[in-house]
This record gives sequence, structure tokens and C-alpha cells, in this order.
Amino acid sequence: MTAPIYLDNNGTTPHDPAVIEAMRPFLETEFGNPSSSHWYGIKSKKAVKKARSQVAKVLSCKPEEILFTSGGTESNNHAIRGIAHTYKNKGNHIITCSIEHPAVTEVCRYLEKDGFSITYLPVDQYGMVNTEDIKEAIRPETILITIIHANNEVGTIQPIAEISDIAKENGIIMHTDAAQSIGKIPSDVNTLGVNLLSMAGHKVYGPKGIGALYIKNKIELEKLFHGADQESGLRAGTENVLEIVGFGKACEIAADNLDKNMKHMKELTDGLFQGLANQIHSIRLNGHMEKCLPNTLSLSFKNLEANRILEEIGLEVAASAGAACHSDTVEISHVLKAMNVPLEWAMGTIRFSVGRMNTMSEIEKTIQVVTDAVLMLRV
Ligand SMILES: Cc1ncc(COP(=O)(O)O)c(C=O)c1O
Repeated sequence: MTAPIYLDNNGTTPHDPAVIEAMRPFLETEFGNPSSSHWYGIKSKKAVKKARSQVAKVLSCKPEEILFTSGGTESNNHAIRGIAHTYKNKGNHIITCSIEHPAVTEVCRYLEKDGFSITYLPVDQYGMVNTEDIKEAIRPETILITIIHANNEVGTIQPIAEISDIAKENGIIMHTDAAQSIGKIPSDVNTLGVNLLSMAGHKVYGPKGIGALYIKNKIELEKLFHGADQESGLRAGTENVLEIVGFGKACEIAADNLDKNMKHMKELTDGLFQGLANQIHSIRLNGHMEKCLPNTLSLSFKNLEANRILEEIGLEVAASAGAACHSDTVEISHVLKAMNVPLEWAMGTIRFSVGRMNTMSEIEKTIQVVTDAVLMLRV
């Protein structure tokens, strides 16, 4: 049996073969602790240093502004909790939005229990935050604005540069969760103007359990882990050298091939949308038409249940649902809810997220499989 076509690259990505090759010596022979001053340690230390430069390149920042973490979740926790605790004497207000990943929302909810006040800004029908709402939400005690760069479910890209300008004018720190944007759209921190940015290795053809937090000019940030002084004293614990090396390689590839990959992924998503829209009626695109990740296609099939569609196509195509239907209730994702997608559409929402390794012939096959499934379910 052949494996289904993989169209869930926002969930995670396959490992790039070059990433595996870069990591191999660190599984087989290079085991040194980068903190050791002998030959073995020095080799690992050099590998971590190289990876830090590779990660920095994808953001156009300085290597010393990169802190390695265990992934997007830790980076978001470190950024938000770190700022909250460092600046708690200055203020206790944080601004975020209603379509963040739980790795941001749940940190905010946790901080609420700790006396912080959080504003969750609404989004419009395209999943876009209104910058006027941000200006209005700012209070004298606002210490942080954290807004996702590109949404994982519908792909909408937020006006981060504009929001950073507003933050700067008001002396507020700006963080963005860019776990979904690296390797898909330009993510240069100088253009984005952010102070903090979160990344995740497994969304960019690197390993799981590794990521980074960009910290501009080492702004003051309380640490999450206490212990020895690895990562310039910001994150205790022996470095995950194997995955740091893989993540570095993944970022290098992402930086070197961004234009080519963006174009390729856009052709695939456009082809998929056109192909399905030509054959299926009552289909709707969620997210922004232009300001959208080139690889993400959130489609609603009216009056169908997403899980039934996924069951029908599952042996041939792997995608993910935007809603889960139970015996008598429908659980719509918080993103679709925030965008006010009507229930009869939201319940039949499938996210297709292509990757740079997908081909147009896979898309053609997907069009046929999904069309057959939807027409069959609608009989
Ligand atoms: C936007 C976003 N932020 C954060 C995360 C969490 O990243 P990680 O799985 O590396 O902890 C994800 C992963 O799904 C994500 O899509």
C-alpha cells in the first residue's frame, strides 16, 4: 500500500534529507558536551555556533540574538512569561489576539491567574487583526504585544511591521509567534521590527523538539529554566546538539530557497483550489485572499462534516480538520469561530497545507480524491 499524499505540512514537515545528513555524525560519533573544553567538546561547541549563525541568517539577525529552545511552545512561554515577570513592576497588561496558537493563549490564561490583565483582540472575517484596535487597547500599564505572524489554520499573515511601529511608539515590547512563517514567507526581523520572535524546527523540515527565540539585543528576559549557564545563562541544560545542528541546516536551506519554495507552494495551493472549485459547488475559502501563507488552504464544504471527509480520503490524502463533530455537537476551532465562519460551513472545514516536497501530480490526484469524496457524501 502506498502512503497517503501528505498535505499537513502546517502540522509538521518531513525531514529534509540534507538535515538528516547534517545530523548523522552527531548520532554516530560527535557526542561531546559543548561545555567541555577538550577536543570532543570543542567540536560540538563549533557545531552549535555554526547552527546559531544558520538560524540567524533566516531572520537576518545576529547569531548572539538566537536562543535555542525545545520548540515553538517553549519559545512562546519564554518570551511572554519572561517579559511579564521582568516588567511586572512597570505594568501588568498584555495585548494578544483571538486566533493565536494555544502556545500563546494558554500562557496568557496562566498569567491571568497570576494577576495579569490580557486583551484578546478580535479578528475580521479574513482572520486579520485591525491595527486601530491595537492602538485603542493600549493602556499605560501595557508591557507586551504578542501577535502571531501567520496563522497555522487559515494562513492569514498579520501586519506585524505596522503593529511593531505602534508598539515602539508606545514603548511596548513586541513579540510574534513565527512558527508557521519561517521558510514560507520573508521573516526578516528588521522588516518585522519585533523584539522577540518564536520559531519551531519541525515546521521547517527540521527535527521536532527544537526551536529558537530571537531576542533583540538581548533585551532583559527572566529565564524559564534555572541551572548551569548554557545559552549565555538564559537557558540551563546541556544543549541538544543533535537537533540544534539539524535545525541550523533546516534554516540554511529555508533561507537559500525561500523565493523558489514560495512560488512552488503557491502554484500548488492555487492549483488545488481551482481544481476543487471547478468541480465542487458550495465550497468556501477561509483566510485572506492575498495576505496568506503560500502553502495554506483552508476550505469549507457546506453542510458536510470535516471528519467524514477525512475518513473518506484518509487512505489517499492526509490533511486536517477545522472542526470536530461529535454525536450531537460540533466543536469548531477557535480560529474559525473568531472569524465568524457560519456553522454550516465551519463544520466541513479541511486544512490542506502543502510543502515544498509536494508535486503538481499529487495535487491533481488530491483534486480527484477529494471531489469523489465530497460528491459521494453529498448524494
Ligand atoms: C503557530 C504555532 N505556534 C507554536 C506552535 C508550537 O510549536 P512546537 O510544536 O514546536 O512546540 C505551533 C505548532 O503547531 C504553531 O503552529
